[in-house]
Amino acid sequence: MAKLKVGVLISGRGSNMASLVRAAWDEDYPAEIACVISNVASAPGVKIARDAGIATAVISHGDYPDRETFDRAVSAELEKHHVRLVALAGFMRIQSPWFPAHWKDRIINIHPSLLPYHPGANAYKQAFEAGVRVSGCTAHFVTEQLDQGPVILQDVFHIRVGEDTLDEVKERGKALEGKVLSQAVQLFLNEQLVVTDTKVLFRPGRLPA
Ligand code: GRF
Repeated sequence: MAKLKVGVLISGRGSNMASLVRAAWDEDYPAEIACVISNVASAPGVKIARDAGIATAVISHGDYPDRETFDRAVSAELEKHHVRLVALAGFMRIQSPWFPAHWKDRIINIHPSLLPYHPGANAYKQAFEAGVRVSGCTAHFVTEQLDQGPVILQDVFHIRVGEDTLDEVKERGKALEGKVLSQAVQLFLNEQLVVTDTKVLFRPGRLPA
């Protein structure tokens, strides 16, 4: 099958990026990971991508005078690789309004909570400290409003409040993130999603397994 090009933005470990790379090894998966861009030179994910034979680029945000100039440099790199969809896989950089406007409905982020609960940084810690008994992760389209774009997919895990440690909570969540992100990317590239202003609908008869 003809694969469509996906660009992945990372800042750290790259476990979600690696899940996408593994998914894309399957010939029936609609994506080819065309490039991995990190804003952090030392991000372990850069080496993982390079070792997997994927084009990588480090674009350090510190080298740019403001968010938009940095975002335009990232965007130029994505366009160089003819990217159809951008996946934010642990990209820890708040973007300027220019970026989601330029890539409207073509950026998917994986967030480690059941949005709209626990947006922003340290979401597993937020859930842990709030004492909630169910948390999860969310793949959503990126808009100008941080962590508020239309939700594509979510999955959940349970927390044994008072028994589980924060590390156990993080581990349980991380085990779900890569799968949720890969499924959301697959649904998008297979044109199974319809995006409205606030919601994502699945095309009738083509629900995810
Ligand atoms: C993940 O928890 C992701 O949900 C969040 O940042 C973390 C990145 O992990 N946005 P990794 O770099 O993909 O391992």
